[in-house]
Amino acid sequence: MASKLLRAVVLGPPGSGKGTVCERIARSFGLQHLSSGQFLRETEAGVLAQQYLERGLLVPDHVITRVMLTELEKRREQHWLLDGFPRTLGQAKALDGICQPDLVISLNIPFETLKDRLSARWVHPASGRVYNMDFNPPHTQGVDDLTGEPLVQREDDKPEAVAARLRKYKDAAKPVIELYKGILYSFSGTETNKIWWFFFSINYFLLNVFLSQKATLSP
Ligand code: AP5
Repeated sequence: MASKLLRAVVLGPPGSGKGTVCERIARSFGLQHLSSGQFLRETEAGVLAQQYLERGLLVPDHVITRVMLTELEKRREQHWLLDGFPRTLGQAKALDGICQPDLVISLNIPFETLKDRLSARWVHPASGRVYNMDFNPPHTQGVDDLTGEPLVQREDDKPEAVAARLRKYKDAAKPVIELYKGILYSFSGTETNKIWWFFFSINYFLLNVFLSQKATLSP
């Protein structure tokens, strides 16, 4: 069996659709979807980082890097798709210390659209499943499709926190995008379907290897 594992990163501002597209790709191909925000919301490190999360500020590099590298360490034998990490140059360098991504997808979308999207977002806290009242509403309003449990709105989707998150993103992302320019593929944040097809076609070799290993992958 081939030993190459797919390592992909999705970059984009808050609300650009990282979680939505990663969830779809991961579900279709059996990759692990590793969301830094989800880990922070679910783990003890996140409780300590709560003050940052609520205000829409970036969690310090050393905190998020420790969380993510620990999670990656547990998944050394799996294909993965990183959502929301790395978000600063320091984080990107820390990631490079343990492995180099094969491809990086960057989502671009006007900031005004992001605000609208985030105000219409509802999530299922236990699974991280994301809905949008316009784009992908749940079958029954206010209820998760799979579990029937209630959906909630995130604290950091409040307008003040959203504005802070968007401001921070731009400055922090610039050097990361520069670092990855050789393996960077940019899409509009509305092109969820196109990104999904891109995963089929961008690297025939990687996907062949991936598909040949799929049977051995367990979520
Ligand atoms: P995190 O959870 O990663 O939040 P984020 O980056 O702010 O991204 P979002 O989850 O808000 O948006 P998304 O791009 O995933 O969009 P989604 O798919 O939901 O991080 C939260 C916090 O944790 C950060 O603020 C920070 O404090 C901390 N943190 C996390 N990582 C960190 C790091 N590396 N360093 C430091 N701190 C870190 O889509 C948005 C909405 O749009 C949804 O309603 C969706 O249904 C809809 N939508 C999606 N695609 C489309 C489409 N094609 N057309 C129309 N609507 C669409």
